Amino acid sequence: MAPQTTIPQISSVVGAEHVLIEPELIISYVTDWTGRYSGDALAVVRPGNADEVAQVIRICAASGVSVVPQGGNTGLVGGSIPNQESNSVVLSLTRLDSLGDIDAVTGQVTCGAGVTLAQLQRHAHAAGWEFGVDLAARDSATIGGMVATNAGGIHVVGNGMMRKQVLGLEAVLANGEVIRSMSGLAKNNTGYDLTQLLCGSEGTLGVITEVALQLVRPRETELVLAGCESVQQAVEIASGFTGKLAAAELIDRAGIECVSRVTGIAVPFSTRFHLLIEIVGDIDFAQLESLEHATLAMDARDRENFWALRERITEAAAVEAAGVSHKLDISVPLSELDSIYRDISSLLLQPEVRNVVLFGHLMDGNFHVSFVTDTDDETLDIAILELVAARGGSISAEHGVGHMKPEYLHLSRSGAEIAAMRGIKGALDPAGILNPGVLLPQD
Ligand code: FAD
Ligand code: MLT
Ligand code: ZN
Repeated sequence: MAPQTTIPQISSVVGAEHVLIEPELIISYVTDWTGRYSGDALAVVRPGNADEVAQVIRICAASGVSVVPQGGNTGLVGGSIPNQESNSVVLSLTRLDSLGDIDAVTGQVTCGAGVTLAQLQRHAHAAGWEFGVDLAARDSATIGGMVATNAGGIHVVGNGMMRKQVLGLEAVLANGEVIRSMSGLAKNNTGYDLTQLLCGSEGTLGVITEVALQLVRPRETELVLAGCESVQQAVEIASGFTGKLAAAELIDRAGIECVSRVTGIAVPFSTRFHLLIEIVGDIDFAQLESLEHATLAMDARDRENFWALRERITEAAAVEAAGVSHKLDISVPLSELDSIYRDISSLLLQPEVRNVVLFGHLMDGNFHVSFVTDTDDETLDIAILELVAARGGSISAEHGVGHMKPEYLHLSRSGAEIAAMRGIKGALDPAGILNPGVLLPQD
């Protein structure tokens, strides 16, 4: 257990008002967005700058207290939540909310780890730029959390994932040392790329305090909602726009009906699937007319409604989920997407399974699979992950491993890779104080 002096020492660094210990104040920090994961913590600590983060980590390291970094707590795999034994602090980074000026020539910007995606988007927009990654949790998800999970979202097909936007970062390691590479150099071949190592490390290798990001120039886009009867047909339609795709999102019938019930937005087509495609530049009307079911967003209201039909599925599925909610985030090679859709759908045709919804980032080969059962038996989840592994896919396309999937990591990573990852973890955090239980399987 932590010495009794630990919390007072931390309070003297960050100020007592930024150390929460009362159960009613910490409950929202120790329960995840899905409600499926919850834990306990000695305290929630809210440092105001990188130096305070470093001092808190040194105190925790000296006391044998674990540190669970947390941004907006919108992660979907339980990674920002401590486990049940209460020998940890949640380190909330939301006060690190500085936003630097945007370089008008390069489009580079520096950003505190606690800045939300929506704040960054507004900042970029005001200067005539855009941020390349976008996702529905934008009002709460932080840039630090998005780097730590290497978030994906709706624009990966056009702009790549989070790591592609990251030019450098500042982070505090488990020993309290600070690493910093914020110069935004286009070229720097001086050894291991520690910035990229921290992208997707889920708070297990360091606490990210600041990030240097590359913005992109905004481009005019058109938004089309199409109806189709199979995943393969959706891929063919989207492939017709190759090179011009900013987004290509697929929603199955159950998903669109669920989101329509919750939002009140009408379902446009009676087809089995709806495909939302965002196209850069002018639309080719002949191409559009060749599609049997397709409608072009004519104004801002149409765009908002089309996007809501896609983006509000997670929330809608959660509203309607009475029981244990299962959420998987898988990717396979695009050529396997149609067949895995059919295999997963057949597998989930069981009396104890309900609210089956499949949707996701079509051209990334990424499906989100959500369903509800009465028990938290993981047999079906494992069977789906095995189908993914058999096709050379990933058991976590964009949400990370968190507390949810360490035991299944071997389905996507070889023994040699897991051993190498353990070696890196052991070198940077030998006492294992950063986010224990997350990402790597227990020995
Ligand atoms: P948290 O949930 O607080 O933390 C996530 C992980 O990062 C944890 O392991 C935590 O320890 C670590 N972490 C957080 N901050 C730091 C830091 N500063 N330094 C080191 N480690 C840190 N994800 C996608 O990829 N694509 C989507 O399209 C998408 N859509 C979503 C839609 C909804 C409605 C919701 C609720 C979630 C969605 N997500 C999506 C998941 C989630 O928003 C992302 O994983 C996001 O990157 C998490 O950011 P966060 O600040 O909330 O991080
Ligand atoms: C999305 O693309 O909407 C998300 O990643 C969230 C989810 O999987 O529910
Ligand atoms: Zn997603």
